[in-house]
Amino acid sequence: MTKEFNVAIAGATGAVGIEMIKTLEKRNFPVKTLKLLASKRSAGKTLTFKGTEIVVEELTENSFKDIDIALFSAGGDISKKYAQAVVDAGAVMIDNSSAFRMDADVPLVVPEVNPSAALAHKGIIANPNCSTIIMVVAVNPLHQAKKLKRLVAATYQATSGAGAPAMQELIDQTQDLINGAENVKSENFVHQIGFNIIPHIDAFTDNGYTKEELKMVNETRKILNDDSINISCTCVRIPVLRAHSEALNLEFEEAITVDEARELIKNAAGVELVDDVANNVYPMPIDASDKYDVLVGRIRQDISKEDGKSLDIFVSGDQLLKGAALNAVQIAELLAK
Ligand code: A2P
Repeated sequence: MTKEFNVAIAGATGAVGIEMIKTLEKRNFPVKTLKLLASKRSAGKTLTFKGTEIVVEELTENSFKDIDIALFSAGGDISKKYAQAVVDAGAVMIDNSSAFRMDADVPLVVPEVNPSAALAHKGIIANPNCSTIIMVVAVNPLHQAKKLKRLVAATYQATSGAGAPAMQELIDQTQDLINGAENVKSENFVHQIGFNIIPHIDAFTDNGYTKEELKMVNETRKILNDDSINISCTCVRIPVLRAHSEALNLEFEEAITVDEARELIKNAAGVELVDDVANNVYPMPIDASDKYDVLVGRIRQDISKEDGKSLDIFVSGDQLLKGAALNAVQIAELLAK
């Protein structure tokens, strides 16, 4: 008989939490019981899992008795506050926040890339940053074949990355602006996001990069287990509801052709080759939304280099799924094996 697990989701009412519930259901994860946890505000609400209504409970230190796997997506402070309670209860925490990602004894896992790292956990496994996951799952097949030396990324990140209220803010602002408003209320972003883009995600650091940009640098090196890869990023919020996109310039140790890269992407897990410019086919966030695979296309030789070792590619991936909920559930599947 397949082993079944008592699963808890902390942050179950959030944009990622809702997708975690759906992903557990869709992938038929062996759930024995499902506990849905959120703030006091949501206690008593109901959410549906496999046709059954489950009452949301307030998250407390006592929430984890008999729980095997606790999926967390309620922000870093909440993860830090409850990590010990999860571990003390004998459960494994799969944490979507940045709280523990760079801790040496916490594995940072993308199941298509470094699944074996998950097995070394000491009670906590970290789910990487959404833009990092989408980038790494696309780049790893090329890296395994030709060894990545340098990566320069520019992101086009959807409002879903800032949570459900941020997605609503984009809808409200767009409606208000179309109706002639001159000033709109911005609560989830530091500037207006409707009809604008904002080159600022997370806080600025002393070197001029934002924390989001440095997460992509440091987490990618940790997942690929290679600190020698040179990485630079610019992270930009755009007025799209769901699915992040990224323009990536990749330099390898060895020469690589466009056909080779296409073949590697075609044969890799977690990615789908969407690359037929003659028919205007390339990755776009509306096509990546609600999809498990990261779309990869616009693969071309970098014309600024003459050694044939650099490519430009464009990727789109659902931030709420592969960038968060799906990756977390895939980690749970590794534990269940
Ligand atoms: P709630 O809906 O009760 O506020 P998002 O990223 O979409 O904003 O979602 C954040 C998630 O984290 C929600 O499920 C939210 O619950 C939950 N959350 C926020 N603050 C707390 C808290 N203090 N305790 C437990 N859950 C929290």
